[in-house]
Amino acid sequence: MLHGRRFGEFDMPTPEDSTPLYGELFESAKRLSFDLRNDSTDAHIDLDWYGMTPEWSPLYGTPTWNRMAETERMQLTRREVSHFLGVAIWLEVALQIVLLRRNHSVDPTRADVKFLFNECADENLHSLMFVAAIERLGERHSPLDRLLVVVGWLFRTFAWGEVAYGIVLAGEEIFDVMQRDWSIDDRVAPAVRRSSHVHVVEESRHMSFARQKIRDHLRSVSSVRRNVSAVLIAVGAHVIARGLVNKKVYLDLGLDWRAVKDDIDRNEQHRMMFRRATAPLVEFLAREGLLNTVAGTIYRKSNLL
Ligand SMILES: [Fe+2]
Ligand SMILES: [Fe+2]
Repeated sequence: MLHGRRFGEFDMPTPEDSTPLYGELFESAKRLSFDLRNDSTDAHIDLDWYGMTPEWSPLYGTPTWNRMAETERMQLTRREVSHFLGVAIWLEVALQIVLLRRNHSVDPTRADVKFLFNECADENLHSLMFVAAIERLGERHSPLDRLLVVVGWLFRTFAWGEVAYGIVLAGEEIFDVMQRDWSIDDRVAPAVRRSSHVHVVEESRHMSFARQKIRDHLRSVSSVRRNVSAVLIAVGAHVIARGLVNKKVYLDLGLDWRAVKDDIDRNEQHRMMFRRATAPLVEFLAREGLLNTVAGTIYRKSNLL
């Protein structure tokens, strides 16, 4: 049975059978959470390391990659990972705007709302942790693609229930698969390894939360709305994956963008890694009836399926 919805409550009321899961997630967050703001494990700048597992570089194994010396490849991945983390921060901020806005006037003692507050606290610490990792790498933030900025505005202004949680989940799943590799790869800078470990642990709760929220929202929707939502989630996933490759990153390193773009477009290794990154997401969406023909075409066109 559902609680009644009150004036000003725009998020889905919590079905009573989901409440225990939200309560468990909140308790788990109280038991195991991290705060790296005072982390001083290594004060030196991480210049002798890869920024991320090299196989995750969109250029890995291409002619451009093969022409580079190892120190140049390290520098390239430090620059790329700093941009990836910038996209992660963009997602974490958008998530808070859209979800807090939808829950502004709801009952704050509800189990799902308490977990949402905890998730927002996590996300702010993650953003600070990623900024610290970027600084530790001696890097800086690259301005985001215009497409990402525009879609970010549309997302935080208009996304509803399952679309908001679906796009959030898409970003979280992609980073989860990448960061599992980075967290245990001793070629990777310690600051990135540590922040990846923390992120993987804490995001596993966020992903359980998003999956359950999507199921809650889908309980009573029409098939038209389900199909529209499926397509919008696919567009969101496509924009996030596309946004990870940013022209400015490569121009900054003095590389020829046309050659880099050709190399990335032809790079089967890059496509394979991104299919791997979205496999758990696509599997979940298919199970929940959020993978229709149009969405499938979008995932295939953007090499996510
Ligand atoms: Fe996060
Ligand atoms: Fe998250």
